[in-house]
Amino acid sequence: MAQEVRGVIAPGKNEPVRLETILVPDPGPGEAVVKIQACGVCHTDLHYKQGGINDEFPFLLGHEASGVVESVGAGVTDVAPGDFVILNWRAVCGQCRACLRGRPQYCFDTHNARQKMTLKDGTELTPALGIGAFADKTLVAAGQCTKVDPEVSPAVAGLLGCGVMAGIGAAINTGGVTRGDSVAVIGCGGVGDAAVAGARLAGAARIIAVDIDDRKLDIARTMGATHTVNSRTTDPVEAIRELTGGFGADVVIEAVGRPETYKQAFYARDLAGTVVLVGVPTPDMTLELPLLDVFGRGGALKSSWYGDCLPSRDFPMLIDLHQQGRIDLSAFVTETIGIDDVERAFDRMHAGDVLRSVVTL
Ligand code: APR
Ligand code: ZN
Ligand code: ZN
Repeated sequence: MAQEVRGVIAPGKNEPVRLETILVPDPGPGEAVVKIQACGVCHTDLHYKQGGINDEFPFLLGHEASGVVESVGAGVTDVAPGDFVILNWRAVCGQCRACLRGRPQYCFDTHNARQKMTLKDGTELTPALGIGAFADKTLVAAGQCTKVDPEVSPAVAGLLGCGVMAGIGAAINTGGVTRGDSVAVIGCGGVGDAAVAGARLAGAARIIAVDIDDRKLDIARTMGATHTVNSRTTDPVEAIRELTGGFGADVVIEAVGRPETYKQAFYARDLAGTVVLVGVPTPDMTLELPLLDVFGRGGALKSSWYGDCLPSRDFPMLIDLHQQGRIDLSAFVTETIGIDDVERAFDRMHAGDVLRSVVTL
């Protein structure tokens, strides 16, 4: 029997979101129904609503979530009803070339629930990033659930499901930041600040935060930035070089997704340094660079996808470190809101007023 619950729907391109009754089927083989406790409002949800990802409307929004497994389908052994879990948007297959080569974070064959959630009239919903968690309950593939310590606050846990993991992972997984490194982070929203916090966790000696908004730079300091640069008034490449003995940073993390900041990241790194691109550009953006500059620099140019995370390894570890006080993930929760406040949360996000608004249920 499908259950009737509330869910936040994006009905059509640029139309305001609506709270609707949705039908969540019982879990089939390999699936789980999760009772959602918290779900962060992420830019990707806004991109779905704007039609920027695809046009498979209506969408069931929300994908940075935690909750309690309510029921599981046949063959599910890794999680059981009652488990507190963080949802991830990539349940890896374990069998493709990437998985077999020990790089499951690049799995080609990730999967979501097979059954569809629907509106009451039977219209099929497309869950954002295969999750759809601005809802009382959602249906996912059981492999999208990672069990973590249930003592943690659900709002904090949910954020690891997307943006915060993307930022921390950009620093520690993709960038390989290590003790004593100098790190620069360009763009200090939720993702960039998480990269700052990740760099601090990894023992970076110098963490230079770059943004065009002084409010964001103040927050970055509380996350671990040792220096800040407002790139509206100061050339960030020169400033980063000056702060690193003239060399450039060992690891530069770009968390904006624009050509000018990609270029700054490229030139702000030490000759042997690593650039990590985590900001997502739009399809029309291009970047032109003198080939001699590309050739003349060693190091590495990397992009980071979902923080190159392995949820089963990284989620429980980061929750442990948070519970021990070694990283403060609660600093990313600017406000908790009701499920009927998502539309206004998009406005606050757009205005740069929040790192994360989190719907709690
Ligand atoms: N130079 C420096 N900082 C900038 C610039 C710029 N030219 N333009 C914008 N910023 C800053 C903003 O002031 C803001 O603090 O970048 C930050 C972006 O933060 P958010 O809008 O909160 O976005 P966030 O959720 O952190 O995501 C950043 O990472 O995963 C991707 O899709 C995501 O591309 C997005 C990026
Ligand atoms: Zn795989
Ligand atoms: Zn997201």
